[in-house]
Amino acid sequence: MQRTLVLLKPDALQRGLAGEIISRLEGRGLKIVAMKMMQMDEELAKRLYEIHKGKSFFQGLIEQITSSPIIAAVFEGENAVELVRGTMGETDPALAMPGTIRGDLALDIGRNLIHGADSEEIAEKESELFFSAKEIFRLHP
Ligand code: RTP
Ligand code: MG
Repeated sequence: MQRTLVLLKPDALQRGLAGEIISRLEGRGLKIVAMKMMQMDEELAKRLYEIHKGKSFFQGLIEQITSSPIIAAVFEGENAVELVRGTMGETDPALAMPGTIRGDLALDIGRNLIHGADSEEIAEKESELFFSAKEIFRLHP
């Protein structure tokens, strides 16, 4: 069983798409094991997106993700990392396949609704940025 970190970005909440996105992930067999609504500050945003530091879109990315509240969640399931990434679709909604969250619902690359960790190792690191060990639950004792 694998766990991965998901963020419903500000545009997802502003557009009232949180339920739809969570539902699509649950529909693929993924289970919520942690969830919270919060407003990210600049420090957390820069830690999350450290890998993109220095890129042309970095500042805009930090501004967008801190602009209004998000929902952070940990989803659990077989192959959770790949499953979430596949369900999200390509980064640029114009290239994302129909049937994916971004392909069906996102407006542009800066407002692409969802973040998903892109490896098991990164998932663990990112989960620790948002949740304490106590806040991540076991569904089946
Ligand atoms: P994420 O990290 O948010 O799950 O998205 P991702 O893996 O699909 O894409 P990534 O390459 O990690 O980029 C992180 C976020 O930065 C914004 N971006 N803008 N203008 C641009 O060229 C550009 N490239 C990336 C997107 O919002 C992307 O989700
Ligand atoms: Mg990424």
